[in-house]
Amino acid sequence: MNYIKKHTFNLLSLIIITAFIGCSQTKEKNTLKDAYKDKFYIGVAINKDQILGKDSAASNIIKKNFNSITAENVMKWEKIHPKPDTFDFTAADSFVNFGMENDMYIVGHVLVWHAQTPNWVFEDENGNKASRELLLSRMEKHIKTVVGRYKGRVDCWDVVNEAIDDNGEIRKNKWYDIIGEDYIQKAFEFTCLADRNAILIYNDYSIPMPQKREGVLKMVKNLQDNEVKIDGIGLQGHYTLDFPELDDLENTIIEISKLGLQVSITEIELTVLPWPGEIVSADISLNFEMKKKYDLYPDGLPDSMVTVFNNRYKDFFNLFIKYSDNIDRVTFWGLTDQQSWRNYWPIRGRTDYPLLFDREYNEKPVVQQLINLVEN
Ligand code: GLA
Repeated sequence: MNYIKKHTFNLLSLIIITAFIGCSQTKEKNTLKDAYKDKFYIGVAINKDQILGKDSAASNIIKKNFNSITAENVMKWEKIHPKPDTFDFTAADSFVNFGMENDMYIVGHVLVWHAQTPNWVFEDENGNKASRELLLSRMEKHIKTVVGRYKGRVDCWDVVNEAIDDNGEIRKNKWYDIIGEDYIQKAFEFTCLADRNAILIYNDYSIPMPQKREGVLKMVKNLQDNEVKIDGIGLQGHYTLDFPELDDLENTIIEISKLGLQVSITEIELTVLPWPGEIVSADISLNFEMKKKYDLYPDGLPDSMVTVFNNRYKDFFNLFIKYSDNIDRVTFWGLTDQQSWRNYWPIRGRTDYPLLFDREYNEKPVVQQLINLVEN
């Protein structure tokens, strides 16, 4: 090798080596969805502004950190089917397109529920209580139209939401009152007919409570005995610092798995605020005394509470990792603390910190700690 060649060669090697060192030093850190890609999807419920790109900062965080989305509101009956002959698919179409463009697992929420469903659904043309036949035909039309439109694109449907009460009995809502107990079965059957390849789940809160769990499992077992297609149960994770007990949650995951069903953690967030025992209505605004008692951290979460919050999330995720063969998805109920419904429920006007991103859209330290659980 002559002098020039040799030195050119050395120089090139140096550039390559430096580039490599440079690369490894500036390597982008793993995101939550990448870290958990062999375990389960990491999802988030998204709102209209995020879907429509009006909140582009949020949309970018969503694309980067999550590989599944749930419609927070835009697919609820009152939004997508506001009048008997009017469907409004504008936002729902954009939601599905957002998921398709970003190669996400798309969850449709929700087909049959007692809340956020207009009154006309349960009434005839004269404003009287609808007959069983009328309500069933409305349910069928709604499901056929909505599920049919997104066939092959929405991966999973929350078919029925919150049909069992805390005592394990069927909830006495208008669906039950007019159709009877088989409204649940009918909803699953109509959905299956509209898209037999979609994953169909039953979704509810507080299922880890033993009495409620029994009721839910009994209802689901009944569907299975009747050969109705149901693929899984969604555990809404509206968690607090002391609910649910980890043992109860673990037993719930085990019991659901024994039925051959998959578990989805569908609506996780973790409030750090106390449950207002004597106050039951979200309509009550806090007076000064009550604020001191229930709105504990209006100016920011103290470090000691951040640690409690981080540890509680880690406890949940350690459990989810342990049962990752049975869990297909963990979906956060919102992106930033500002967006969380916890600021106005169970009482209005509090400052809560339940999610992974703060009010300024910064990633909280808990994210890296959750990543470390699977990377270290
Ligand atoms: C339930 C519903 C969600 C949402 C939350 C509150 O969990 O399933 O759609 O309305 O309540 O935000």
